[in-house]
Amino acid sequence: MDNRVDVREVGPRDGLQMVSQILPAERKLAWCRGYADAGGRHVEVTSFVPPRIVPQFADAEEVARGALEIPGLTPAALVPNLKGAQRAMATGLPKVHYVLSASEAHNLKNVRRSTAESVEDFRRIVAARRADGHAGVRLGAGIATAFGCAIAGEVQAAQVLGLVDALLDAGADELTIADTVGYAHPSQVRGLMKQVMARCGDVPVACHFHDTRGLGLSNVLAALEAGVRAFDASIGGLGGCPFAPNATGNINTEDTVFLLESEGLDTGIDLPALLALRAAVASWLPGEAFVGAVANAGLPLTYKAPARPA
Ligand code: COA
Ligand code: ZN
Repeated sequence: MDNRVDVREVGPRDGLQMVSQILPAERKLAWCRGYADAGGRHVEVTSFVPPRIVPQFADAEEVARGALEIPGLTPAALVPNLKGAQRAMATGLPKVHYVLSASEAHNLKNVRRSTAESVEDFRRIVAARRADGHAGVRLGAGIATAFGCAIAGEVQAAQVLGLVDALLDAGADELTIADTVGYAHPSQVRGLMKQVMARCGDVPVACHFHDTRGLGLSNVLAALEAGVRAFDASIGGLGGCPFAPNATGNINTEDTVFLLESEGLDTGIDLPALLALRAAVASWLPGEAFVGAVANAGLPLTYKAPARPA
């Protein structure tokens, strides 16, 4: 059985969009390089949003181009609209992650348009990929607030499944189902993700959890049971949506890797190297709150790094 699970580091995007001190591009790239050196393959390296909205990402082009030089890394970037996607594809990035929200209210606040208009924008992005000569770019689509919304409250599973169908129909190469505000609980995750997986066939599906109310890693286990084999996480548990009330950080990368490797799954990531990277990133962001149980307590004496081919 293939026991590979991808842990995709989203700290340089989701983490930094909540950080007001601007991290220089070379530090962002050192973060990406450190993750690749530890064995990680996927990093969301930046976000192509207008600099007036998130000044942290004014260097998006520079970071994307730099990340392309890192051996072993498949860098991706988040985009909220066609213009962002065109900027991202022009850098040569192999992967672009589009995002819309299942909650109409959150979509309006986050990207200033209806969910239906966002689906139409994704269709325009798929068309632009071909027209602009970027046929090799993988276009992922993410559904934010899929398990609940801090503005509108409940989000119906039928709304999420309708968007899954629409995004697949539009040509999404992969999907990410996101609990942007930490509302999900395990039985909800198991239930919804089984239905999502049943619709997706060979199209890969990832989950994106925030640990806002302490259920992040429990939700990872629930999604694994439903067949999900890729998870977003952020070093030190940084992160959150600036356009959602009370949003806090992503699940912590170190603890996520520890959980998965302890369960006999293969993330490809060397945990001591990851912990060293966390210490470096924390030293670059003085005053930011870094959470994480393994980093605080240290690895248990009984932890055995899985054997990996040299
Ligand atoms: N990158 C750079 N500039 C962009 C852009 C992008 N992705 N998208 C739009 N712009 C520019 C336009 O060219 C236009 O410039 P101009 O005034 O010089 O002509 C201006 O921004 C307004 O464009 P418009 O299409 O009206 O955008 P908007 O003001 O309605 O904002 C979004 C829409 C999607 C760009 C904005 O809401 C956004 O960035 N949302 C993402 C927020 C986020 O980061 N959330 C967290 C991650 S999920
Ligand atoms: Zn997030």
